Amino acid sequence: MSSTLKKIKFTVNGRELELEIDIRESLLDILRDRLELTGAKRGCEVGECGACTVMVNGEPVDSCIYLGVWAEGKEIITVEGLSAKGELTAMQQSFIDEGAVQCGFCTPGLVVSATALESGHKKMSGDEIKRELSGHLCRCTGYKQISTAVDKVINKKEP
Ligand code: FES
Ligand code: FES
Repeated sequence: MSSTLKKIKFTVNGRELELEIDIRESLLDILRDRLELTGAKRGCEVGECGACTVMVNGEPVDSCIYLGVWAEGKEIITVEGLSAKGELTAMQQSFIDEGAVQCGFCTPGLVVSATALESGHKKMSGDEIKRELSGHLCRCTGYKQISTAVDKVINKKEP
């Protein structure tokens, strides 16, 4: 019987890691259960809610439907890796300032996606921002506060 185990090397929040994983494990399971990075949330687990979003080589992905083996040689950033030395990023602060966080379950995924948008250094209309974030579900805030928070940072609006 052939083994389902495989060694992968990848970088998570700047740390180079080598892990033996099961080829059926999702990146989300590896991050949460092996590396104790529980910022990415386990929501629908079928790629519909965005709660599990992390960056892979700068692009947001649903880590629940991204196999760990696909992360070989790649750079993963989770919400825990966004801020240096425990300081909030402008995007994180904007979510707080605009009341875009309530229970917080959707917030890590949204902040990761919004940060990926910000790193594109491109101004965006409100509709474009909404479209880009449309893969994220939030049951609490309504989406107005979230899109306002993201708009403020992406389009460099003063408070
Ligand atoms: S938990 Fe991954 S998209 Fe919902
Ligand atoms: S803040 Fe609760 S789901 Fe979005």
